[in-house]
Amino acid sequence: MDGVGIPLAGIRVVRFGGHNQRIVGMPLAGILIQRQIYIVNNKGTRKGCISNSGHPQGVPLRDIKMAKKQKLELTWIGKENRPKLEPRILLEDPEKSYHAMHRVTDNDVFDNRLIFGDNLLALKALEQEFAGKVKCVFIDPPYNTGSAFTHYDDGLEHSIWLSLMRDRLEIIHNLLSEDGSLWITVDDNEAHYLKVLCDEVFGRACFVSNVIWEKADSPRNSARQFSTDHDHVLVYSKKTDWIPKRLARTDEANSIYKNPDNDPLGPWLPGDPYANKPYSKGQYSVTGPTGRVFSPPPGRFWRIAEKKLWELDKNGRVWWGPKGSARPSIKRYLTEVGDLVPRTFWSKKDVGSNRTSKNEMRMLFPGDSSFDTPKPERLIERVLNIATNLNDLVIDSFAGSGTTGAVAHKMGRRWIMVELGEHCHTHIIPRMQQVIDGTDQGGISKTVNWKGGGGFRYYHLAPSLMEKDKWDNWVISKEYKSAMMAEAVCKLEGFVYAPSETLYWQHGHSTESDFIYVTTQNLSHEQLQQISDEVGESRSLLVCCSAFRGRADALPNLTIKKIPNAVLSRCEWGHDDYSLNVENLPQKPPEPGQQALFGEEVES
Ligand SMILES: C[S@@+](CC[C@H](N)C(=O)[O-])C[C@H]1O[C@@H](n2cnc3c(N)ncnc32)[C@H](O)[C@@H]1O
Repeated sequence: MDGVGIPLAGIRVVRFGGHNQRIVGMPLAGILIQRQIYIVNNKGTRKGCISNSGHPQGVPLRDIKMAKKQKLELTWIGKENRPKLEPRILLEDPEKSYHAMHRVTDNDVFDNRLIFGDNLLALKALEQEFAGKVKCVFIDPPYNTGSAFTHYDDGLEHSIWLSLMRDRLEIIHNLLSEDGSLWITVDDNEAHYLKVLCDEVFGRACFVSNVIWEKADSPRNSARQFSTDHDHVLVYSKKTDWIPKRLARTDEANSIYKNPDNDPLGPWLPGDPYANKPYSKGQYSVTGPTGRVFSPPPGRFWRIAEKKLWELDKNGRVWWGPKGSARPSIKRYLTEVGDLVPRTFWSKKDVGSNRTSKNEMRMLFPGDSSFDTPKPERLIERVLNIATNLNDLVIDSFAGSGTTGAVAHKMGRRWIMVELGEHCHTHIIPRMQQVIDGTDQGGISKTVNWKGGGGFRYYHLAPSLMEKDKWDNWVISKEYKSAMMAEAVCKLEGFVYAPSETLYWQHGHSTESDFIYVTTQNLSHEQLQQISDEVGESRSLLVCCSAFRGRADALPNLTIKKIPNAVLSRCEWGHDDYSLNVENLPQKPPEPGQQALFGEEVES
């Protein structure tokens, strides 16, 4: 029987029954029900299997039932290819960093970071220092709509988009703290694939919600099919027991509470007195102030026992209607209800729409140099209100015009933003300068009474540690001076870079007693012996040097590695762009099996 494929990036269900299977059509992304596909002849005898890579495998199989245990999984071409990322160091450019001249409040934050460069390398660069420390990641990646925006490419082929997102999501997951959460805006083009992908990275149990954000102000009558009113905001938590913060009550939510009887406890709402579930003390009759007798309707019960009802009535907490002749209701006082639980529909009235953000951009950048796809500040404010507290760390690795940083800054949260487009300089820096100067009075400034203050440091990614020499050999890049090299090797080896002012051999540490020394020198046995003596018995040292003489294991407190040889296979060197820009992707030939995902007989 033939498996029936459906077009690009569709959900593909393939059924197999006969011996000579054939799969027609090749989805670039799809839901694969089984990782191993078993070929069975019509007597039910196993003949072999085809793995995900598409190679028939004649290996003996334990049981065909095994297949049922395989998980439901989204798959796409190239899913198995994972980049071996180089953990780059970040270099500050003080000329582009910015801070206020003086403190405005005690909560001013100065150690925010703006990173210019590809976010996959940037996230990798942050991983060592920030793993487990980030309270909230908000990202608004290119939606993969196929539209051409002025400032960046949006319209990647689905498989590439999924791979690029997966690689970023995995690092984001590592960065989040135990009580952290991830928020992603996306539209219908990729929302449902992204949901399945996030389930895989975060675990399905960590899916919190798919919030609907009403982004459009009016219908678009030129739409061919439907005019889209909303975007999705996918919310995932690091742990399943994550509790969102409640939202402050609004005037609108409070306005339904009234005080028709001038109750000294203030405005109240009449609460439903009935319960649906059978309750032994919930079936009785009560006589109201005018002598009318009330019982619950058939199949329903009083919510509280009779004794409790009269107690509440004595305290003026029961409402019998304006004339005292209505069935009793139990008052719910405004002063006693808590803040608002977040809901899944976010209206433009509450959090702004695309039009709101366009207006915010116009205020920040008068003229026509504004950014194409900004988000409204109130949308991000709501996310941060639910997901963070004062001083928590927020990351946005698709920063765009810098809305997340601007809002986080005004709300007293610490932030890291990454942007690879030139608008990092033309939009984010000037925007953050206006925020820090207090001259940005748009967006949420008035609501949070923003007066300015704080600052940020601007970084870019260091070049690759390795470069090819004229004989095509990998050598340490000429751009690396000794301090930079020490920092880069520390990072590569998982050490914290913290050069000692007194001990030349201490460039960093992994624990209190384990250190690293990085040098381009060729170390003699005498030099190593001297270092070993200084390190002493209670400490250990990793020595990374160009060359050395003597046996590597001769000195028990030293581990000696030759660089670059010892690190050459660690990662991909010289790869500067993992961006979501198709043109920049490496032209790598497909791996064997990548095209033939389901075997040789595939027709693409
Ligand atoms: C939809 S916009 C974000 C808009 C933003 N939320 C705002 O309010 O302005 C997506 C941004 O991601 C950036 N981007 C795309 N790929 C990137 C990458 N690999 N590294 C860093 N930024 C990237 C684009 O340049 C673009 O500015």
